[in-house]
Amino acid sequence: MTRIDKNPYGGSDHAVEVRGLVKHYGATKALDGVDLDVREGTVLGVLGPNGAGKTTLVRCLSTLITPDAGTATVAGYDVVRQPRQLRRTIGLTGQYASVDEKLSGWENLYMIGRLLDLPRPEARRRADSMLERFSLTEAAKRPVMQYSGGMRRRLDLAASMIGRPAVLYLDEPTTGLDPRTRNEVWDEVQRMVADGVTVLLTTQYMEEAERLANELTVIDRGKVIASGGVDELKAKVGGRTLRIRPTDPARLPAMARALGDAGLDGIAGATIVPDEGRLYVPILADTQLTAVIALLAAHGFGIADISTQLPSLDEVFLAITGEKPPVSEPLSEEVAA
Ligand SMILES: Nc1ncnc2c1ncn2[C@@H]1O[C@H](COP(=O)(O)OP(=O)(O)OP(=O)(O)O)[C@@H](O)[C@H]1O
Ligand SMILES: [Mg+2]
Repeated sequence: MTRIDKNPYGGSDHAVEVRGLVKHYGATKALDGVDLDVREGTVLGVLGPNGAGKTTLVRCLSTLITPDAGTATVAGYDVVRQPRQLRRTIGLTGQYASVDEKLSGWENLYMIGRLLDLPRPEARRRADSMLERFSLTEAAKRPVMQYSGGMRRRLDLAASMIGRPAVLYLDEPTTGLDPRTRNEVWDEVQRMVADGVTVLLTTQYMEEAERLANELTVIDRGKVIASGGVDELKAKVGGRTLRIRPTDPARLPAMARALGDAGLDGIAGATIVPDEGRLYVPILADTQLTAVIALLAAHGFGIADISTQLPSLDEVFLAITGEKPPVSEPLSEEVAA
């Protein structure tokens, strides 16, 4: 695929600029003064629990709804004053599949191409090449109602790419997908970014944000509660948890003591989880992982297995706001598509 042609946006290297964006539904402050930037050619992850305002933000930035106050520009175009130009530069994969169930994959893509005013031969060419790219060529002629959840999501992505957008919004692109399909979608998103597309991605999954995003904005109840680089934010929430299972569970207390006594840099302590026969050690950096293992080995503790766990969205919120999100989904809960 060729590089995407981008609009020159008047000197700013921000493909998306949002300032003080407000959208209220009656008493509900869906967006309550949101500021954010997406640098050209990067992925901004917008992380937040159910009802945080993610879809409302994407809808405002797609000109589907009009904000009550504040400003937003995409590729230099104002969402309120230049909606037509703006729409030509964006692609949107909504939270819910937007393709027609009765049409085939190919027909859906062709129709979108025609809706975008592409001449027939060009609409055909792009439908073919997008199906190829998203590994849907074999299923091209089948009605979408026969597609699996992962195939639908891939078709959604293909549909949002037909117009060769410079800026792409992905609203919870992998919620409800199994881990393998989720990985396939992530690979595709990474390929689009490599092609030069700027992406604003909303997600409830820390793991997804970690995999795809260069920077993160965390929103809750319509407000930005944290923003910054992925590592920065992880450091704020306490990084990862190192989980160690010794060959002899009886030695757990001795291991915890040895770690406590050593006073390793940045290692505050260890927690014994008797049910699992494991020791949990919060770490901020890979060097600490190495230091902990080296220390345990030096003391002659046998280790049966080691794993690391990312902070869950719950932990992010707990660390940043000091309170639980109003509604939350555990990271590990997988819902069949
Ligand atoms: N059309 C609407 N009318 C009334 N209230 C709405 C409307 N759209 C959204 N809201 C409310 O605005 C708030 C933000 O909703 P939004 O859909 O933006 O959240 P979200 O972060 O996308 O959540 P989810 O993760 O569940 O998709 C919620 O309290 C929601 O109930
Ligand atoms: Mg939503």
